[in-house]
Amino acid sequence: MGPPDPIIGLNDAFKNDTNPNKVNVGVGAYRDDLGSPYVLPVVRKAESLVSSSGLDHEYAGIAGEQEFVDLAMEFAYGDDCVKIKEGKVKGVQTLSGTGGLRVMGEFLAKFGKHKHIYVPDPTWGNHIPIMQNCGLEVKKYRYYDAGNSGLDFSGLVEDMEKAPEGSCFLLHACAHNPTGMDPTESQWSEISKVIKEKGHFPFFDCAYQGFASGNAPKDAWSIRKFVSDGHELALVQSFSKNFGLYGQRVGCLSWVAGSEEEAKRVESQMKIVIRPSYSNPPRHGARIVATILRDEGMTKEFVDQCKGMADRIGGMRTALRSSLEDAGSTRDWSHVTSQIGMFAYSGLSKEQVERMRDEFSVYGTLDGRISMAGVTKGNVEYIAKAMHECTK
Ligand SMILES: Cc1ncc(COP(=O)(O)O)c(C=O)c1O
Repeated sequence: MGPPDPIIGLNDAFKNDTNPNKVNVGVGAYRDDLGSPYVLPVVRKAESLVSSSGLDHEYAGIAGEQEFVDLAMEFAYGDDCVKIKEGKVKGVQTLSGTGGLRVMGEFLAKFGKHKHIYVPDPTWGNHIPIMQNCGLEVKKYRYYDAGNSGLDFSGLVEDMEKAPEGSCFLLHACAHNPTGMDPTESQWSEISKVIKEKGHFPFFDCAYQGFASGNAPKDAWSIRKFVSDGHELALVQSFSKNFGLYGQRVGCLSWVAGSEEEAKRVESQMKIVIRPSYSNPPRHGARIVATILRDEGMTKEFVDQCKGMADRIGGMRTALRSSLEDAGSTRDWSHVTSQIGMFAYSGLSKEQVERMRDEFSVYGTLDGRISMAGVTKGNVEYIAKAMHECTK
């Protein structure tokens, strides 16, 4: 018997818990203020447009829905991206972010300069087995300074400088998971410079575009900066969190190549990775996203509704911090409000997280990460009380 997944496995334990006050702050899925799953109104609208358009259910091509891929790339790189106009950017639809990471990992294992990849320490837990299963050695670069609850920027730069030339670096485009701590714009510029100087290959994972600042185009700043700095790079996008399309598995893997010809060669190799893996991706979710992004008005509705989710989370950060203070905690919780995105990297130890689960039925991941998306007006005081009791 294998062990349960550290994140998804929490859902099962949560379901079996009979405590009426139980709270799930483990899995990163947005909840409304009543704690229920949320479907964006613009997604509902797009769904009915898709279903009334009488489309068939034929296979998509290996690379998926081309219109979706084009719109997804524009969403990330910007509609004024010169490299797209020059034909140097191409992409494939993937099984959400996870599937895109896997395809890229396999591509790197076959064609990368090195058989390793650098990921931030810490990073989203699944990055490590995904890349290992592709046959890559996973190395870590310093990212978070737990002592200061902030970015270990000098450590990060030093590790990039010391890495063998031409190494692939996985970068979280925004709303870093699990720390909620992103580089500033000037730090990104510095990272771009170091990566360029060392001939490293930047690989962006963008799973939260819109969740960081509440402004989807602004959240793509780091990606756009790297493109304008002249990098060749790869990017994986997930539409799970920002569009709330978790189970539809909507994602895109794209790359900015040195020439149109090279971009096409990469595309041919990506298809060779995909075909024996899952053949071709599902169509419905991609059609929903394309329906929204092809329409200016619906895109604006999306941006506003995504901001609504980000704002509710921001409000819960303030509420959690003040509830902790009201509960009598004297610890410094300022990082709860300074971090951005879906998670609070609370600083709780594994033992404290286990106590929260066993004594209060508050389910978080063992690294102390709390999904702020699961915090509501109705449970924030209870969560704060549990956190305080376990950190006294
Ligand atoms: C940083 C990061 N990358 C990728 C993903 C992949 O998500 P999905 O496969 O649902 O798109 C997640 C999901 O939590 C994530 O946090």
